[in-house]
Amino acid sequence: MVDLRPLRWIWMDGRLVPWNDARVHVLTHGLHYGYAVFEGIRCHRTDRGSAVFRLDEHLVRFLDSARVYRMKMPFDVLTLRQATVELIRANETPEAYLRPIAFSGYGQMGLDPTQSPTQVAIGMWEWGAYLGAAGVERGVRATVSSWVRVDSRSLPPQAKCAANYANSALAKMEAVSGGYDEAILLNSQGMVAEGPGENLFRVKNGVVSTPPASSGILRGVTRDTVIRFVADERIEFRRNDFSREELFTSDELFYTGTAAGITPIREVDGRPIGTGAYPVTKRLQLRYEDAIHGRNPAYASWLTAVP
Ligand SMILES: Cc1ncc(COP(=O)(O)O)c(C=O)c1O
Repeated sequence: MVDLRPLRWIWMDGRLVPWNDARVHVLTHGLHYGYAVFEGIRCHRTDRGSAVFRLDEHLVRFLDSARVYRMKMPFDVLTLRQATVELIRANETPEAYLRPIAFSGYGQMGLDPTQSPTQVAIGMWEWGAYLGAAGVERGVRATVSSWVRVDSRSLPPQAKCAANYANSALAKMEAVSGGYDEAILLNSQGMVAEGPGENLFRVKNGVVSTPPASSGILRGVTRDTVIRFVADERIEFRRNDFSREELFTSDELFYTGTAAGITPIREVDGRPIGTGAYPVTKRLQLRYEDAIHGRNPAYASWLTAVP
């Protein structure tokens, strides 16, 4: 969690508006029915100024989420890319978390959202590692949630819809009130899916694995990034389902996400994971830090410069 510290501008419906004027009516449709899709993106300092990491992949997923929900999106990727860059420049904040959101606006009520106007905004704020800098360094304590991850027969997990995050919040609250840092959600088949806002990776006998998209997860941009890193490190990789007990017997486990970065898990439900040394996770973390800060030319095409 982070206390919001206001910056100067929010991009809203096609223009920059002062932070305090970026408001909606209390009868806004999306507020009542969870009919909103959003993204989480980061920009970071590089030697050549601020750069947004994998901006286009996030924006494409944003538009795809809207398509799943038949939401009419008034802006294309090019416009949203320009808006993002304009916003970072205007706020003069080179390192931040960015939050594009599209939602059914004010004007209609009732469950069919297709008649409501779509409103689109991009906000940004300063946000350190979601599970804490100490968590990134030393690992976090996780618990397997009693809540089952949403699945594509109810709320499609591959669309980043606000409604999915009610499920995430139930799992997160349960974890925190039980004294843990984060939850791990199983899918309706009882196999490992993901965290409330992160994907999950396992290392066992030198092989890195992660649940496939069909396990009911958000296809994370960081997950995709890590899969590329694993290939570049010449580590064996598999996309396969794994069970709760395979969490306990892992040599290493880690979360990935734009908010969380690459965060090791040092314990699951009282069982220490591996030796606590995370050699593979550490290699991937180093590669990630270099990529997002523009220090590895192999990943330069993932950066959108903010001139
Ligand atoms: C449920 C869920 N899974 C996984 C992720 C990780 O996705 P990404 O790496 O694109 O941030 C997120 C974050 O957006 C998420 O909310």
